[in-house]
Amino acid sequence: MPMKKDIEKVLFSEEQIAQIVDRLGATITKDYENKNLLLVGILKGSVIFMADLMRKINLPCKIEFMALSSYGASTRSSGVVRIIKDLSIDIEDYDVLIIEDILDSGNTLSKLKAMLELRNPKSLKICAFFDKPERRTADIKADYIGAEIPDEFIVGYGLDFTEKYRNLPYVGVIKPELYN
Ligand code: IMP
Ligand code: MG
Repeated sequence: MPMKKDIEKVLFSEEQIAQIVDRLGATITKDYENKNLLLVGILKGSVIFMADLMRKINLPCKIEFMALSSYGASTRSSGVVRIIKDLSIDIEDYDVLIIEDILDSGNTLSKLKAMLELRNPKSLKICAFFDKPERRTADIKADYIGAEIPDEFIVGYGLDFTEKYRNLPYVGVIKPELYN
């Protein structure tokens, strides 16, 4: 397998990921009963998680996507967050749940949350598959978290390294020599 040779260790298998998504889907289904749920997936990292999670939410809901960029291409995100692709609807009538791949420094999500609050949604919460609390610099927490992980750079299940490995069906750490 051409990608598998780049992976140093697997952190979450496909089965483990499926169990986490089942649990999140059940919790969200319970919490959003009788609400007007709108899932907002953040491109590109959330696509696979979004596709899996929405099928485990047993409620009527709508979906939207946004794309954001934080300036600079380093592994640490910078201060400025720009909207590259915006929502196509007004969110005033919706209970918005942001779906993100990973909460790292928190810079992206704290800026996004502030921008969306200004549009007066009925409610606004965050669901992140992964959380790296050790790296947090912004004052933000996810309302739903799939798994907490230590400060390691992971790929797969939507997460990339230089736009590669998003299609890996499990989550792993790539070999250190590939960073150079
Ligand atoms: P934050 O603004 O620092 O919280 O950055 C969040 C974004 O950084 C995520 O949406 C990912 O695109 C990226 N990111 C953070 N950690 C990782 C990782 O371990 N692997 C892949 N992408 C990551
Ligand atoms: Mg990324």
